[in-house]
Amino acid sequence: MRKKIVAANWKMNLDLNQGAELINDLFNGMPELGDNKLVVIAPPYIHLTQTAEQLAGMADVHLAAQNCHYEASGAFTGEISAAMLKSAEVEYVIIGHSERREYFKEDDAMLAKKVNQALSNGLKVIFCCGEPLSVRDAGTQNSHIENQIKAGIFHLGDAQLKNIVIAYEPIWAIGTGRTASSQQAQDMHAHIRNVIAARYGADAANNMSILYGGSCKPSNAAELFACPDVDGGLIGGASLKAEEFLGIIEAM
Ligand code: PGA
Repeated sequence: MRKKIVAANWKMNLDLNQGAELINDLFNGMPELGDNKLVVIAPPYIHLTQTAEQLAGMADVHLAAQNCHYEASGAFTGEISAAMLKSAEVEYVIIGHSERREYFKEDDAMLAKKVNQALSNGLKVIFCCGEPLSVRDAGTQNSHIENQIKAGIFHLGDAQLKNIVIAYEPIWAIGTGRTASSQQAQDMHAHIRNVIAARYGADAANNMSILYGGSCKPSNAAELFACPDVDGGLIGGASLKAEEFLGIIEAM
């Protein structure tokens, strides 16, 4: 059975004190999650060690990084390797976020290499895909997403695929307050599952967690998560306030 996941992407927000306080507040308000449900927190790199210590007492909450480099090590000033993340007790890494693709010019080939680095160092990958508004308006979003998924993960074998979670994040919905309707989310998630099934088979597709991201908040999370192919969310803005993030966790 596939897992339900609510993941926090703090992006470039919160200093160390603010991060510690937020984790503390989450700890105090965290509901019993039950089987097959988990929470993932992706703070900025500098928080990882501190957050790992704080999460030690929270079995259902897992640590993620927001990025990693595509090479194993070497002269890449300012970068962080997958092996370093693993040594900091990180379990997941977000790869292919639209902000990385756009502002840092991360292309499909680079993202496929990052996926390989993460997996070969024992990390699980939250692989992001999403279309810009121009593509949505042209009605070609299905092929756009299919191409991103093919380029990013279709080189993987069956066993490796088990360590991939997909996050569908329409770019026009990220940080804009404009959420995809539950029907738009369901349609795309079903399409993604079909794309996975065509390459890896129905079982692999049914076991794949596919998260929705883009202006997800307590008021719309329950409706989005009720869609049969939406297995949770990747949450930006609303993950920065304990009350809002806990509301989304409750919706899961
Ligand atoms: P948002 O961001 O929830 O602030 O729209 C989601 C994301 O980019 O992961």
